[in-house]
This record gives sequence, structure tokens and C-alpha cells, in this order.
Amino acid sequence: MEFSKPIIDIIQERISHRTYSGHSLEKDLREKVLNLLKNHDSISPFSEYAGKARFRLLSIPEFNSKEKKKLGTYGFIKGAQDFIVGAVEKSQYSREHYGYLMETIILGATDLGLGTCWLGGFFNRSLFASKINCTSDEIVPAITPIGYSTQRTVREKIIRSFAKADKRLPWDQLFFEGNHNVFLTEDKAEEYSKLLEMIRLGHLREISNLGG
Ligand SMILES: Cc1cc2nc3c(=O)[nH]c(=O)nc-3n(C[C@H](O)[C@H](O)[C@H](O)COP(=O)(O)O)c2cc1C
Repeated sequence: MEFSKPIIDIIQERISHRTYSGHSLEKDLREKVLNLLKNHDSISPFSEYAGKARFRLLSIPEFNSKEKKKLGTYGFIKGAQDFIVGAVEKSQYSREHYGYLMETIILGATDLGLGTCWLGGFFNRSLFASKINCTSDEIVPAITPIGYSTQRTVREKIIRSFAKADKRLPWDQLFFEGNHNVFLTEDKAEEYSKLLEMIRLGHLREISNLGG
């Protein structure tokens, strides 16, 4: 996937958004997003060990009025009109493979100036799965809203604080050298320090509280 700037900048810029403008993606951006979703299986280091993944852009008008009330995102996501929903064939590393691809798509969306938010727990999985004709050989591990993010509501700020979203684990709780008693410092990591710092930024400490 091609980005308009260094991926490090995009990783540092990315932040989850749960409040959206209520407007659907405009044509030009929709096309760019569809482009992000095109078959990229091979960019994932897990592609050899996992089944195929596919992604679709689902828009709110594709849901009937009953379904709209059952998206399962109510209270967590506000105003989103579009979602990226994907499925991956079941296999030992399907979740890792899907995660790699989804994060790449999310970084691509960030590069386009769009808001996203990983949702692995708080959405109606069976409804979203049926909308993309998920087969019994596939799973839908996570989805994300995608769109024009707006100012955070108080509720969103509370969710962020509950998820400790702004507090990443420090280096000495994440990276070790040889065994778990020896911390790996940024200095010692040398040329890997930037890469590990990006992993630290992408790592959410309270994922279990979010059903992910
Ligand atoms: C795999 C995964 C699943 C997640 N599932 C949810 C979820 O269901 N609901 C939610 O509110 N946040 C969920 N989150 C957390 C948010 O997407 C977000 O990452 C978190 O609030 C940290 O904020 P940040 O992304 O702005 O750093 C999930 C994150 C990950 C990585």
C-alpha cells in the first residue's frame, strides 16, 4: 500500500474516533477508501499461514430500519455512516493476518484524513457478518467506522479514559532482552528502537475491557 508520507508519521498521528459528522463519504474519498480495501493479502507477513481475507465498505443505507437499531455500536459510536467490515477464512493465524491488514487499512484511512476506531467487541457481529455474506468458513474479527470525525463528546472522553487510551505501557513493561527479567531499553534496541516504539504506540493495554 502506498502512503502520502512516512508510515511513522501516520502511526503517530492515528488516534481512534467515536464521534462522526453524520455525513456519508463523498465520492472521491469513497473511491480512495475502496482502493484501500482491494486485495492486499500478500502484504501481511501472516499471509502464508492464514486463509484469505476480504474487506467491504458498508454504508448505513444498506441496513433496513430494524437493522439500523441493532448495529450494536449505539452509545459507543456516534454519527458514523460508513463501516469497514471484513471476513477472514478460519485458520491458526487468521486473526493476526486480519489484524495486520485491518491496521494497514486504518493507517491508509488516517492518511486520507479520515477517522476510524477498531471495534472487536461492541458491534452486532452476526448482523455485520450477514451483510457481507460471511460463510461458515469465515469469521469477522473486527470492524471500524470510517468517516469525518468531529469533536469528542463527553461520553467518548469517558470511554477513552476507561480504556486508558492515552496511557501506553512503558518500554520496561513491553520489551525484554533474552528473558523477562532484563528490560530492553531504547538505547540498547538501537536500530529497532523506532520500530518497537511504533509497536508500543499501537498496543492497547486494556483490550480485554473492550471485548476485543
Ligand atoms: C482489536 C481491537 C478491538 C477493539 N474493540 C473495541 C470495541 O469493541 N469498542 C471500543 O470502544 N473500543 C475498542 N477498541 C479500542 C479502540 O479502538 C481504541 O484503540 C482505544 O480506545 C485506544 O485509543 P487509540 O486507538 O486512540 O489509541 C479495540 C481496539 C483493538 C486494537
